[in-house]
Amino acid sequence: MPLPSEKSSEKNVSALLDERRTFPPSAAFKKSANWNDPAIYDRAAKDPEGFWAEQAKNLDWFTPWTRVLEWNVPWANWFVGGKLNVAYNCVDRHAHSARRNKAAIIWEGEPGDSRVLTFGMLEREVNRFANALKSLGVVKGDRVAIYMGMVPELAIAMLACAKIGAAHSVVFGGFSAEALRERINDAQAKVLITADGAWRRGTVVPLKAGVDDALTGTPTIEKVVVLERVGKAAPISMKQGRDLWWHDVVAKASGECAAEPMDAEDMLFILYTSGTTGKPKGVVHTTAGYLVGVSTTHRNVFDIKEDDVYWCTADIGWVTGHSYIVYGPLANGTTTVMYEGTPDFPDRGRFWELIDKYGVNIFYTAPTAIRTFMRWGKEFPEKYKLSSLRLIGTVGEPINPEAWIWYNETIGHGRCPIVDTWWQTETGCIMISPLPGITATKPGSATRPLPGIIAEVVDIDGKPVGPGGGGYLVLSKPWPSMLRTIYGDPERYVQNYWSRYAGKYFTGDGCKLDADGYFWLLGRVDDVMNVSGHRISTYEVESALVDHRSVAEAAVIGKTHEIKGQGISAFVTLKEGITASDALKDELKNHVATKIGAIAKPDDIFFTAELPKTRSAKIMRRLLRDIAEGRVLGDTTTLADPSVIARLKDQAKDEG
Ligand code: PRX
Repeated sequence: MPLPSEKSSEKNVSALLDERRTFPPSAAFKKSANWNDPAIYDRAAKDPEGFWAEQAKNLDWFTPWTRVLEWNVPWANWFVGGKLNVAYNCVDRHAHSARRNKAAIIWEGEPGDSRVLTFGMLEREVNRFANALKSLGVVKGDRVAIYMGMVPELAIAMLACAKIGAAHSVVFGGFSAEALRERINDAQAKVLITADGAWRRGTVVPLKAGVDDALTGTPTIEKVVVLERVGKAAPISMKQGRDLWWHDVVAKASGECAAEPMDAEDMLFILYTSGTTGKPKGVVHTTAGYLVGVSTTHRNVFDIKEDDVYWCTADIGWVTGHSYIVYGPLANGTTTVMYEGTPDFPDRGRFWELIDKYGVNIFYTAPTAIRTFMRWGKEFPEKYKLSSLRLIGTVGEPINPEAWIWYNETIGHGRCPIVDTWWQTETGCIMISPLPGITATKPGSATRPLPGIIAEVVDIDGKPVGPGGGGYLVLSKPWPSMLRTIYGDPERYVQNYWSRYAGKYFTGDGCKLDADGYFWLLGRVDDVMNVSGHRISTYEVESALVDHRSVAEAAVIGKTHEIKGQGISAFVTLKEGITASDALKDELKNHVATKIGAIAKPDDIFFTAELPKTRSAKIMRRLLRDIAEGRVLGDTTTLADPSVIARLKDQAKDEG
């Protein structure tokens, strides 16, 4: 297993590790920060369970836990015996406090419509929808699939599920009908919640049409609830007996609904993510540990204050949206901003306009977005004040130092600490990040594991490397918001995460430690690509390609891309008698988009008569990567037929 430093551009990695600039917190920021005493790291390291128990006291419990942790590697039970409800903690307890009329969700629609839901209003809407779900036969333990755009009802639907003890499975609205069908069937969802459509760059994403297609093969779905979002802009058909309008099901529903007391370890949600095989993994998160993790990290990594307006630009279809648009902020009683559209509609200043419009104090986005803003130029952010910003963050992929510096100067105006946060769908919450009142940041490093998190960089044999060393990132002790299993496939959970190094969670990421012990994440070491911060497996795209009638074989690799981090390159062998053409390339790209979603569309396709294979018939992706990136080829001695490579190289050069 090569480290990314060996497989991707050596130049970038060494430039990264030569980064010497440090940015300590200002005295003023430090003084008022939620966590500003470095002793917290030692305290948590000495007694992680005690530390997490202390954090758990910030939640409201119906029944207290009797034991903080039961750990039978790799099976964890946190807060054993405790009972609580996530929706109660995120909504009800604030609605019955001085926060009743505080904004819980500030929502901006892409066409410019907006809505504010206070905690009191959110409580009523969640209760009405929870009662509607009950009237459709949803009971505790059922799975509910959600396929919507970024509208407040998406958060309401999630919280309504949590309120009655049903687990939600949110499927990103950009996924194809086929991807939706696969996820519904894996989770055996009973009800699907969707919308007629969603707005994106002034046009409609026809969600309901995709749903109709997906539901041709989903035996477990009994009812579909459809929110009217785009109305006449995209008329839809409703299937008698199956499809119901959101406004109809809530019309008569009561605004009162008691929270279901849930066991600490009851399932809260399933979220599908890409692994190294074709089938997406249903990552399972449970009630108490997840909420303790997301609320603690949200409060302290983002240094949240009572009056803050906080905006995370992710889509709720990904884990970042679950943890840091919905559950973390709302558990802390924070005002969370939700935006429906893209940053370039109606123009490239939209994000900055929203920051000024709502007085956003904390802003959390992805490096790929920052690199796009850089390319668009300073003139867009410079039209706005951005003076409300107090702290800015990034997530999803390594941030290159140039993008970090640009973000610091152009958006943060040199006065906002930057938190580069490393985590995964599986970890539930942020694991490695600066604490803004304590940590001196270095551009490009996520710095150190948070208090209560024990992360190490180990070599191939599992031996920790010291400062200055590089290897694989592992998490050496359980943490409250860790995934508990893969839905329906516990064996895969054990195999994927816990079989490489005894008792340690394998992250799949390469990492280096610098002389100060700072962590520098280097990207995935497995066959997972990171395209614009989205996880896509090479195998998934290959499966979609070979599904096309013209394709005999395909090999897919992630290729370094200036804006997206990685782009997708596919090497395709056609069946006998099929002629290669540009039209076929487009057809194949569109085929992948139909099978998976537009995010998985290959950037380039190379047709080739053969793929480079080892003598044991394994495709040598490393060489394909070298070819796609125009590098000097690495070791080719294990190739079965070295002439394949020479031909491919010539071809790649010709095709540019
Ligand atoms: O490779 C790491 C990268 O994103 C992967 C997790 O992807 P996903 O489960 O989709 O969650 C993304 C949002 C939490 C990781 O294995 N990654 C995430 N954050 C960073 C990162 N790589 C470097 N630096 C980060 N801050």
